[in-house]
Amino acid sequence: MPGQPSATAEPVLEIPERLVARYTPLSPLEAVTKQFIAERRWQRRAPSFRIADPERALSVYARMSPEEFDAINARQRWASWRTIPRAISGRLPLRPLVAIDLGAGTGQSTEVLACFLPPGSTILALEGAEPLVRAARRRQYRHHAFGGGRPARVLFRCQNIVDDWRWPDGAPVAPGSVDLVNATGVIGHHLRPDDAARVLAHAVCALQPGGIAAVDPGPAVPAKLLVRLAEAAGLTFEAHVKSNPLDRWGQCVFRKPGGAGDAGNR
Ligand SMILES: C[S@@+](CC[C@H](N)C(=O)[O-])C[C@H]1O[C@@H](n2cnc3c(N)ncnc32)[C@H](O)[C@@H]1O
Repeated sequence: MPGQPSATAEPVLEIPERLVARYTPLSPLEAVTKQFIAERRWQRRAPSFRIADPERALSVYARMSPEEFDAINARQRWASWRTIPRAISGRLPLRPLVAIDLGAGTGQSTEVLACFLPPGSTILALEGAEPLVRAARRRQYRHHAFGGGRPARVLFRCQNIVDDWRWPDGAPVAPGSVDLVNATGVIGHHLRPDDAARVLAHAVCALQPGGIAAVDPGPAVPAKLLVRLAEAAGLTFEAHVKSNPLDRWGQCVFRKPGGAGDAGNR
């Protein structure tokens, strides 16, 4: 339920709907056209990236130049500027947070997280295609919504998200150390259901009680199956947010039970 952050005594990160689309860098028409043209070009010379198999999907993404990726990802980028703020609004405390962005690509979803998370937050961007990680490092990440444009702390690691999550120095992400796990355009699109179950198990472990996972369903892991897998992993379903009424996938929002806001804990 929105308005139920991990610690009731703390103020809540509220993102008013008027702020949701304010920072979007492209129009819907631009996004659709860019993606359509770029995908047609890609299909003429390389295998499809629309694959639910982590290793094969990563090998295709690793062949893209950052410019090709950004054009192909344009629709996803437009959607992320809407689903991510809607997924986190009212669900997290207003204090520096630790977030992980799964399958961060060139950092377009990470940029959205940086924009809306409170200043002082740390974001770990995990991405399996090395050329995209290099491009993500070059992007600027700023706390526009609540930090007056201050630079955000973003760390990057090239890894398959199905494997155990690690920080750039190789240290494992400690159990219960993360407030938010975000995934856009990756779990439901590029993982098989058993891979998705492993990723959700990592999320449950990494999240602190009361923490949030905002995860994309997709053709490979539709929303009903995603909710089943997440609940089996120990998460509680809270909402399914969409970028617009025609959005087929959006993000499902889950909470790890046991936060200070849980009635059972009081
Ligand atoms: C559609 S893009 C989405 C990028 C970004 N999340 C966004 O919303 O702009 C999917 C990304 O997930 C990455 N990816 C796919 N499977 C992965 C895996 N198993 N481990 C790490 N990254 C993965 C791809 O390389 C690609 O960059």
